[in-house]
Amino acid sequence: MGPAARATLGPGVKAMLHGPSGTGKTLAARLLAGLLGIDVFRVDLSAIVNKYIGETEKNLERLFSRAEALDVVLLLDEGDALLTPRTAVSSSVDRYANLETNYLLQRIESYQGIVLITTNAVDRVDRAFQRRMDVIVEFPLPDLVERARIWALHLPERHEVSATLLEEVAQRCRLSGGQIRNASLHAALLALERGAPLGDAELIAAIQREYRKLGGSSPLRGVR
Ligand SMILES: Nc1ncnc2c1ncn2[C@@H]1O[C@H](COP(=O)(O)OP(=O)(O)OP(=O)(O)O)[C@@H](O)[C@H]1O
Ligand SMILES: [Mg+2]
Repeated sequence: MGPAARATLGPGVKAMLHGPSGTGKTLAARLLAGLLGIDVFRVDLSAIVNKYIGETEKNLERLFSRAEALDVVLLLDEGDALLTPRTAVSSSVDRYANLETNYLLQRIESYQGIVLITTNAVDRVDRAFQRRMDVIVEFPLPDLVERARIWALHLPERHEVSATLLEEVAQRCRLSGGQIRNASLHAALLALERGAPLGDAELIAAIQREYRKLGGSSPLRGVR
């Protein structure tokens, strides 16, 4: 790296992780911190904005300086709340969010440590803000092979789901990692309630429940 490039870099490392819900952004941030052997200081930005609307800046400043002093990975989770483009002002809530976006931009620029920001909607993230990132990593929804692996990771070791059903599930249910985790946990719970090993019936019911949460219906409805 030449001196000109070095001069433009701030003292910290700033990364943005973006992708749909349940694709493992928060998980990856925590894993990364674990690998570095550094604690995570997680801040749910949407909660902060909703709670302290109007006086967010003061709270954010306290938080940034505390994180800097502690030498942790600062995880600004659910970053969408503050990252609407600065031009899109249509309500008083947006106006507040706008002020906070400007503050956040500057404060992240001067931040001295490692900061990871997660968001579902990178296209709504201010361009100037994107340029301040050292790296932007996309988290896409898992493909068929990845879904099969995530199911294998989350189902209990001694499940009795048939191999044909598992294959069909991986193929037809385009779920996120988070949804697969939820369905696996729920299926395990159902099995526990019935006092039986986790089998096809529990998995089908749990998947149906995941789809119903979103107002949809499971593509497995016709199965057995
Ligand atoms: N690629 C993956 N491999 C294994 N497990 C995964 C994967 N992606 C997601 N999961 C599971 O889903 C859970 C939820 O993921 P996580 O909370 O990291 O998603 P997210 O991208 O932060 O979602 P959101 O945008 O809603 O915050 C994880 O704790 C993990 O159990
Ligand atoms: Mg998350």
